[in-house]
Amino acid sequence: MRRFLRVVAVGGVGLLLLGAGFYTWASATSSRSLARSIDSHAWEVPVPYPLEAGEVEARGLTSGEAEAEALAQALERGRHLVEARYACGECHGSDFGGGVMVDAFPIGQLLGPNLTSGRGGVTASYTTADWDRIIRHGILPGGRPAVMPSEDFLLMSDQELSDIIAYIRSLPPVDNEVPPIRLGPLGKLLVASGEFVFSADLIDAHDAPHAELPPPAEVSVAFGRHLSGVCTGCHAMDLAGGKIAGGDPGWVAAANLTPHADGLRDWSYEDFLRAMLESRRPDGSEIREPMSFVAPFAQNMTEVEMEAIWTYLRSIEARPTGR
Ligand code: HEC
Ligand code: HEC
Repeated sequence: MRRFLRVVAVGGVGLLLLGAGFYTWASATSSRSLARSIDSHAWEVPVPYPLEAGEVEARGLTSGEAEAEALAQALERGRHLVEARYACGECHGSDFGGGVMVDAFPIGQLLGPNLTSGRGGVTASYTTADWDRIIRHGILPGGRPAVMPSEDFLLMSDQELSDIIAYIRSLPPVDNEVPPIRLGPLGKLLVASGEFVFSADLIDAHDAPHAELPPPAEVSVAFGRHLSGVCTGCHAMDLAGGKIAGGDPGWVAAANLTPHADGLRDWSYEDFLRAMLESRRPDGSEIREPMSFVAPFAQNMTEVEMEAIWTYLRSIEARPTGR
């Protein structure tokens, strides 16, 4: 009995030391991973995006008028982009004054910074290359990899990036100091073990040129593929779904969106619309978080956008559900 107790005591202390050692390893490894500096190109875009020469000429606009008209059009496009397609406000707040990506103890506190020009806003000294770096590469101005899911924005064209910058710059300043990201013990472990992959590491070409314009807004596979870029952060690059890497551990796995038997093979376009707009499956059951966060954005999409996404989803390879 005594011997047994000793074994238990020694074992307990050993486990404790092992745990402490493991935690030290996870802390050091995750800090190192976050402190890396990643190189990317310096990609500048004009803001606002200029009108086409043909339009300026045809309408006989002076250069001042052309500039004002370009800004008005950019703001209108930018508003639609953030309200319907690129859900920045989901994590940066609907007024862009700061919001929440994940705030759950063992994972950590990953807050979306204040992007306005108010007190606590972080974009005042941003160049357009800095905007490109964080949004399309997942890299902060100093080079550190960001926890933001930038792979969602990989297909964003220069004009869309420019429109979003113009729109955010036009917003009223919000005074709000947002604390920097803080990883909890589980967050550190996920980063250290490679379970949480930074967008900057998922995106392999940080010097590849970006498309200048989005594909034409029409019901086509090309436009649908472009719009589906924002689904990949959760549904995976091949849209076959599975566990959401880097998400809240309480979230359910993402569904398979390919035309596989596990996926949307038997769905009609009406089924798809109902899922996107009302968060209901064909059998009437409710679609859960975090997909239900998508509905308010999908409700702002045009019919052409919705039909284009569906056309693209029908065209991709059927695959079994991912990991
Ligand atoms: C899923 C949540 C999420 C979405 C969606 C999102 N962001 Fe972020 N964003 C974050 C988080 C979290 C950070 C802080 C990253 C860090 O410090 O590692 C961040 C950082 C940033 C920064 C850098 C701020 C700084 O510290 O310099 C900018 C700029 C930014 N986001 C812009 C955008 C824009 C524009 C969009 C939409 C196209 C967007 N974000 C969509 C979560 C998100
Ligand atoms: C923030 C993560 C996230 C994003 C972004 C996201 N989804 Fe989802 N989606 C999910 C999850 C998780 C489920 C599964 C929900 C459930 O099982 O209740 C899901 C379910 C679905 C379903 C229902 C499928 C089924 O079999 O029940 C459809 C359709 C869908 N998503 C389409 C899309 C499209 C299209 C986009 C991009 C425009 C998108 N999702 C973006 C996480 C996301």
